[in-house]
Amino acid sequence: MTANHVLVQAHRGYSGVYPENTMRSFAEAVALGVDILELDIHISSDGVVVVIHDDNLDRTTNGSGPVIGKTAAELKALDAGVWRGPEFAGERLPTLDEVLNRFSNQVQFNIEIKSVTSGYPYWYETLQPALASIDQRNLWSRCMFISFDVQALLAVLEYNQDAFTAFLDWRSGQERSKQKLLQKAGIKGWHPHPSVARRELVEDAHDLGLLVLCGAGKRLDNLEQEVETCLELGVDGISTNYPEHVITLLRERGRWKC
Ligand code: G3P
Ligand code: MG
Repeated sequence: MTANHVLVQAHRGYSGVYPENTMRSFAEAVALGVDILELDIHISSDGVVVVIHDDNLDRTTNGSGPVIGKTAAELKALDAGVWRGPEFAGERLPTLDEVLNRFSNQVQFNIEIKSVTSGYPYWYETLQPALASIDQRNLWSRCMFISFDVQALLAVLEYNQDAFTAFLDWRSGQERSKQKLLQKAGIKGWHPHPSVARRELVEDAHDLGLLVLCGAGKRLDNLEQEVETCLELGVDGISTNYPEHVITLLRERGRWKC
């Protein structure tokens, strides 16, 4: 790995092309050599942690209603690919354990805890078995936890004070105070929205030892400009739905690991 390698995080996997948060989307991203898979978790009615962004099934499966209203077996019977295109029919909602088991020797994970801030009241019930899964597999060094809600990050640190947690800071204002409080609380990352990030704030975060990831390329049309902006900001990593394109742009600039 080169010293100036910028980390690439595949947001919901290679979700710009493949159905988000599915094994296919994760496998395609891992095949590109991404550093981190970002994923979102919810819980079934019988306590199984599943990987899906929304707290309901309507947008990304052929089911409907809340995720928590179905058992794991019922969730597994749903199609999680066909909404994205007929060629993806047959994709299933993965469980967190399945994703960890398949990719944990190849990649880091960034597990997003949806929380009260995101309108998800079952975050604590979801988090506890997720943490247990990490613990059983001894995957602490491979997993980062992110949230818009510091409370959720503190719950991770309550379980394991050495866990890597990062705050999704998408509201501008008081960034320096927030960064200092995060560091004091043992939170190790500051992930600002591009509209919040400024070069001097990234430098401040680095002075506090915080890892900085920023988003680029949720859509393809301004991707190159967004990557340039991230590089000018001096971030440690870029989160994107289009990891293949971001890797190409980084490679052209000598900022990719190979
Ligand atoms: O990487 C942060 C991002 O995942 C937060 O937003 O809605 O895509 O989970 P969302
Ligand atoms: Mg997310």
